[in-house]
Amino acid sequence: MGSVRRREMLCIRCLALLSLLEWCASHVSYSVSEEVDKGTLVGNIAKDLNINAHELEARGLRIVSGHTKRYFNVNFKTGALFVNERIDREELCGNTAKCSINTEAILDNPTHLHRVEVNVLDINDNAPTFLEKSYTLNISELAFTGEKFPLPVAQDADSAVNSVKSYKLSPNEQFSLDVQSGGEQGTISAELVLQKTLDREKLPEIQLTLTAVDGGKPARSGILHVVVNVEDVNDNIPAFSEALYKVRVSENSPLGTTVIKLVATDLDEGVNGELVYTLTAGGASKITDLFAIDPIIGEITIKGNLDHEENAAYEIRAQARDKGTPSRRAHCKVLVEVIDVNDNAPEISVSSVTSPLKEDSAVGTVVALVTVTDKDSGENGNAKAYLSDSMPFKLKPSYKNYYSLVVAGLLDRERRSHYNITVTATDEGNPPLSSTTTIIVQVSDINDNAPRFSERAMNVYVKENSQIGAVIYTVFAFDPDVDENSRISYSLLQSSSPVKSMVNINSDSGDIHSLQSFNYEEIKTFQFKVQATDSGVPPLSSNVTVNVFVLDENDNSPVVLAPYSEHGSVNTENIPFSADPGYFVAKIRAVDADSGYNALLSYHMSEPKGNNLFRIGTSSGEIRTKRRMSDNDLKTHPLVIMVSDNGEPSLSATVSIDVVVAESGSDIQTKLRHVPMKEESFSDLNLYLLIAIVSVSVIFLLSLISLIAVKCYRTDGSFSRYSAPVITTHPDGSWSYSKSTQQYDVCFSSDTLKSDVVVFPAPFPPADRGAQVTTE
Ligand SMILES: *[C@@H]1O[C@H](CO)[C@@H](O)[C@H](O)[C@H]1NC(C)=O
Ligand SMILES: *[C@@H]1O[C@H](CO)[C@@H](O)[C@H](O)[C@H]1NC(C)=O
Ligand SMILES: *[C@@H]1O[C@H](CO)[C@@H](O)[C@H](O)[C@H]1NC(C)=O
Repeated sequence: MGSVRRREMLCIRCLALLSLLEWCASHVSYSVSEEVDKGTLVGNIAKDLNINAHELEARGLRIVSGHTKRYFNVNFKTGALFVNERIDREELCGNTAKCSINTEAILDNPTHLHRVEVNVLDINDNAPTFLEKSYTLNISELAFTGEKFPLPVAQDADSAVNSVKSYKLSPNEQFSLDVQSGGEQGTISAELVLQKTLDREKLPEIQLTLTAVDGGKPARSGILHVVVNVEDVNDNIPAFSEALYKVRVSENSPLGTTVIKLVATDLDEGVNGELVYTLTAGGASKITDLFAIDPIIGEITIKGNLDHEENAAYEIRAQARDKGTPSRRAHCKVLVEVIDVNDNAPEISVSSVTSPLKEDSAVGTVVALVTVTDKDSGENGNAKAYLSDSMPFKLKPSYKNYYSLVVAGLLDRERRSHYNITVTATDEGNPPLSSTTTIIVQVSDINDNAPRFSERAMNVYVKENSQIGAVIYTVFAFDPDVDENSRISYSLLQSSSPVKSMVNINSDSGDIHSLQSFNYEEIKTFQFKVQATDSGVPPLSSNVTVNVFVLDENDNSPVVLAPYSEHGSVNTENIPFSADPGYFVAKIRAVDADSGYNALLSYHMSEPKGNNLFRIGTSSGEIRTKRRMSDNDLKTHPLVIMVSDNGEPSLSATVSIDVVVAESGSDIQTKLRHVPMKEESFSDLNLYLLIAIVSVSVIFLLSLISLIAVKCYRTDGSFSRYSAPVITTHPDGSWSYSKSTQQYDVCFSSDTLKSDVVVFPAPFPPADRGAQVTTE
């Protein structure tokens, strides 16, 4: 310190001398360093002003300055000027290069005014400073080496050499420092110079320290934290975790099932590292129909139905693209293997179906070819075919999935005219799937059935006097075959010539016509055979016997026998006046060519009406007296007797007898010869007739009963729904034939039935046969 002061002192003297020379003694100049301690000597003002030190006090030396602070004071004993206050050059003068404190020394007796200039010398009392503690710099990682980045300038309150002289940078690999001197102004600035390319991904932030050093001795320094933010550029390509992914997915997986989650990474940050996943079609546009990718999380899901059969594998190309500009992208492949599940039922295809198939086809005849396919693979596609129902057919495997459907039993079209053959195919999947198809095989007819009559023999009842050409009966035969094989023609078989002259048959309809009018009195029954022949090749035939019974009609009037002739002639009988009551007068005899009731005769007295003298036996025909004659009675009694049969309508004959009452016995004697003696004989003829009636009725009833019995016996499945006919006999001698649904009154009275022909129909279905009672 002392040496410094000495040098200052010399300097002061030297300056003082100069000033004396220049400024006469009135201007004194000193120099003093700033920040010196109080009491530091600045100079001897008494000496420099050429004043005796002892006089100073006497002359009232005063140091006057414009400053509020009293920087200097004088020692009156020694005349030394010393520092009285701390002097801060920066406070006084700021950053100006020259700084001085101008004071005046005033002396009295005589008054002298001396200018005293004290130059304040700078010392390095201020360190360089930065306005902020740290400074952030954004530098793109793409910056080129050599690129410069200006840094903040440090401030130093000291002037000249004591101000900032240089900058230093903390050691680092990336940056160097370029310091420029500031020319006139003297400010020194620094710039960062990039030495090595930046990589945000390796070093996103660089911490540097900038030190500003001033030129003082010792030098002072200030530091600034420089933070270099390396700004990202999209310089990194996204990368998938693998270039090729392999996944297995079951077919028919539900939509939305995750296939895989792709992971791609991008080292960049922000949008440069934000990835968007997409599927690139890459040829197969189907991919985008079947798969979807979440653009953000990269999850691939199923969007469409995966079908192993359609495609067993898919190659998906995916892309990950960042959002930087320009964006960078990465690609990967996903191999999706579609695993088969048993989702396809076997398919059955049928070809070469032989239908219709002849009913006499031999066992082993190939009916159809059956092929089974299954789109699935492995066991899922292993399908076998079989017939579900038991049928006269079987599936014969030929090779692999080929089968032939062959006849395995006897066919009968009449029993079954078609077969719905159900073929089932089942695969071996779990669960197995199966499908069925039906082959319809029609069985074609061959002529293996002869026509059939419902009965061996038929009984036909025909009224006599029927019209010529009337249909007396219709035969019907049934043939279970079809078409030609069942087309039946009817013919009379081995008919003798009398039959040929009586009936004829319509070969198509089976109608049997009468060729003549039958007369019961001539022919009561005849028989012929009808043959039914089908049109098959060769034709088959069968026959039926037709028994025709002619039924009697009341077509003959009674005939009165001799001795009484018929109506018109007059017969006379004499009786004695004295005849007792019951006296036999005469017996009328008559015959009737008809039979049965038609021939059952009865006798009535038609004239005179209300006769109270004679009566006639209704069945015997005997005329007798009722009482004795009286004188009032007439001598002659004309009687008219009517003989009528029991037919419907009744036919009758009349005979007239005049009964003469004779007085003499001789008259009577002569007449008596002609009179039959026995009363018993009257009924001979009627007795025979009765017997005949009864026997015919019995035979008729028996044949009816047997007919019914045969019908009941013959009733089989096809006829069972038809009820057996019922025959009812009525008290008046008529009878009726009825069935459950209809009733035919077949009575021998012309009021109730006007038909000539009575037919007892064969019990065929009404649909097949028309009217069963033919009327004219
Ligand atoms: C530097 O980047 C940050 C964000 O990274 C930003 O907030 C700041 O303003 C940037 N500074 C300059 C000087 O651009
Ligand atoms: C066969 O199938 C047909 C329809 O295709 C049907 O009308 C017929 O009744 C079936 N036959 C049998 C015996 O099931
Ligand atoms: C009629 O049929 C019977 C058996 O139904 C047969 O025995 C007979 O020979 C046949 N008559 C003729 C002439 O064909």
